[in-house]
Amino acid sequence: MDLSTVETPCLVLDRGKLEKNIASINQRMATLGVNLRPHGKTAKNIDILKMALDGQQGGITVSTLKEADYYFSHGITDMVYAVGIAPVKLNRIAGLIKKGASITILLDSIAQAKFVAAKGQEHGLTIPALIEIDCDGHRSGVTLDDPLLVDIGHVLHREKGMALRGVLTHAGGSYQCQTVEAIRAIAETERHTAVACSEVLRQNGLPCPIVSVGSTPTASYAEDLTGITEVRAGVYMFYDLVMAGLGVCKERDIAISVLASVIGHQKRKNWVITDAGWMALSRDRGTASQKVDQGYGTVCNLNGDPLDDLIVSATNQEHGIISDRSGGALAWDSFEIGSMVRVLPNHACATAAMYDRYYVTDGSTEISDVWHRVNGW
Ligand SMILES: Cc1ncc(COP(=O)(O)O)c(C=O)c1O
Repeated sequence: MDLSTVETPCLVLDRGKLEKNIASINQRMATLGVNLRPHGKTAKNIDILKMALDGQQGGITVSTLKEADYYFSHGITDMVYAVGIAPVKLNRIAGLIKKGASITILLDSIAQAKFVAAKGQEHGLTIPALIEIDCDGHRSGVTLDDPLLVDIGHVLHREKGMALRGVLTHAGGSYQCQTVEAIRAIAETERHTAVACSEVLRQNGLPCPIVSVGSTPTASYAEDLTGITEVRAGVYMFYDLVMAGLGVCKERDIAISVLASVIGHQKRKNWVITDAGWMALSRDRGTASQKVDQGYGTVCNLNGDPLDDLIVSATNQEHGIISDRSGGALAWDSFEIGSMVRVLPNHACATAAMYDRYYVTDGSTEISDVWHRVNGW
């Protein structure tokens, strides 16, 4: 089957780029001497996670229990569920543990520690937990200077039904960096904060075998990971325009694109209309705060070659508007009604979430495989 024959909009995955992206992070981690615990939230597909696990110890990160169920059913047992735990999810987690999964949860409060302990006791299980650390004010977690860190540690260690496994932090602030030097600095803050928290726990007589850090920007620019036992990252498998804007990859490295059909011309406005609106591209406007605002995505031809200065400048639910960023006239012959273009996404996780499958290519327009995604919760 050829891309030109599939119904649009749909999601295309360039296998060669995927393999190259995975190999380059794996190489970095090998050089830095740290295990990679790939995040399954971007790909949500077992074939891709198996590639990402090449040369690693075999554990992954998940962002939903649906991913956990799915990856476990495909033979992956060691998982960190890296979203703060809620009580209503614990029966499902207990079910996975009883079936043989080694699933570690995340928390940053005494309240969570208490309900996890109660659920562990109810099921006769020891639920492993990591304490979430806030290294950059990005989202959740306990800060290094907060006595709560040791207090939670003691509850996790003391109470039956759960076990303290270590600390986890995510330098989400790296997505807002303006320079590569700033990413390097935040990578070191991420490392240093996680290691310092692990030392505080150990000084207080508490175990801390896992010291987990990670984001694609910091994984790409960390220069030293001393004291870190694992790095988590997910978006590096595909990359996206936000990562390209940060200097983490080049636009040509982006492995996924949305295939769209040209459905109209607005010649007086210099617009091409496609069938890929925000339902197909997502509403993510992550490049809006970067040096170059890429609208809803940059435009390539059917072969995936970038068309200079063309972006999806506006979207409705099922309509995309392509225009020239510099206001130049469009080459109408290249956009015949019914022809196809490919759009590179701002945020790979958000765009891919709109689809239930990947049309896999080997660089040409020939579809070599169809891989499914596990969306939802
Ligand atoms: C807890 C956690 N770890 C790791 C990651 C992976 O980061 P990235 O998407 O930059 O690869 C994320 C991303 O949201 C995350 O929330």
